[in-house]
Amino acid sequence: MVGTGLAMTTSMNRSQHASLAALVLCMSSGCTSSDSIPRISGAPSLPSDVSSLRYKSDYTLSGLTTIGDGMIVASDEAALWLNDSSLSPLLVRADTGEAAATGAVHSVTARAYDVLISSDQGLYETYDDQLLRSPLNEDFSEPSFHALHSSGQGSQEQLWAATANRVYRIADGSLTQWTLDSLQGEIVSIGFTGTIALIATSEALYELDPTLADLTPIEAELGTVYGLSVGNDGGAYVASDAGLVSRTSDGEYRIYTLSDDEHAEPVTAVHVDTSVGVIAATNSGLITLDEQNSSPVGLAAFEGSQQVSALNADDDGYAWLTHGQSLQGWLVGTATSFDQDVSPMLEAECTRCHDEGGTGPTFDLRDYDVVQARAIDIMTRLDAQQMPPDESLDNSDYEIFRRWYRSGQNP
Ligand code: HEC
Repeated sequence: MVGTGLAMTTSMNRSQHASLAALVLCMSSGCTSSDSIPRISGAPSLPSDVSSLRYKSDYTLSGLTTIGDGMIVASDEAALWLNDSSLSPLLVRADTGEAAATGAVHSVTARAYDVLISSDQGLYETYDDQLLRSPLNEDFSEPSFHALHSSGQGSQEQLWAATANRVYRIADGSLTQWTLDSLQGEIVSIGFTGTIALIATSEALYELDPTLADLTPIEAELGTVYGLSVGNDGGAYVASDAGLVSRTSDGEYRIYTLSDDEHAEPVTAVHVDTSVGVIAATNSGLITLDEQNSSPVGLAAFEGSQQVSALNADDDGYAWLTHGQSLQGWLVGTATSFDQDVSPMLEAECTRCHDEGGTGPTFDLRDYDVVQARAIDIMTRLDAQQMPPDESLDNSDYEIFRRWYRSGQNP
């Protein structure tokens, strides 16, 4: 039984810190529950004919995120980007105009218009092909984070950041801080589902309810926990020695052991997003889940065994992973397309007003040429949250358009 010490500080604006309120939860009889998470066994077969792209770096790669048609890779020396088929350090523009260096990069997270990176030297944001020092550094006394997570866009953005045992959230212009004294292991990854923050330490998994300031350990034998990823629908996935752990937005857990016997196949990296769904890496290949999330499906077999350190996906159907000094792209999906992805979304959200007889100007949002010609206009309206005018667009619907807009606007 673990008593969970948790201290929360909230500041209503970023420069002002309110007094520290200490809360102790789960005393003596509180947070116990048996390890009753259902396990689903079954080893998917991995197709070996999947094409892949490979890039070699001089540095050890530890994380990556895709943005538009670009990719930012974290390494032990610098933030790298893929440029003309080679991985090169992003130039850092210092305040004085001189070149500077970030040192080791610990985490990267894609936001609506840039990538935020956390390094030995603090936080930086991408701007064109350069890094600028982030104004967010002013908010933190120790701005070198193990984990970052951004969800939502514009005024809806929530930014989460974590050191080994401290969690920060910036939302609505205010900073909240939780000090989590009794975590087992150090925080490696954090994600926000829309209601709770899921926190992975190297040894365990926790749920933090930000409104109740309540920290709950998930009682399950997971072995080493490598990381987690949260989708736009609030579903989350965790990479662990026990296999792939899923959490629905309703808080139901499952563990896919990815093996036929009682020995689970470790999952060392996981990624989920709207275009590809969930992708997880074992030492032998990449897997996903079927549409009902009832069983694992193989996506690609690696040529040899490799321990993947990070996983992401782009809009062209590639799953990207880092392993040692290697960056690999595996073609496991299809590009975001107008017919498959964008058109059904516009039909559901927009045509009632933009068809003949609707309250808005008439144009045919089912017609690829019409939408392509108005793509900038539509993107601007969605970014400004002006369309639909009567209700807000789901983040996942926004993402569908944004991905298509940025990835070549395929038919
Ligand atoms: C409830 C009705 C309604 C819905 C739903 C709606 N719109 Fe509109 N839209 C309007 C009205 C009314 C205007 C004209 C007023 C304005 O420009 O804000 C407009 C204007 C626009 C314009 C500018 C057109 C121009 O020629 O200036 C674009 C682009 C647009 N909407 C896109 C969308 C998209 C994309 C969606 C779905 C995500 C959407 N709208 C959903 C009512 C709607």
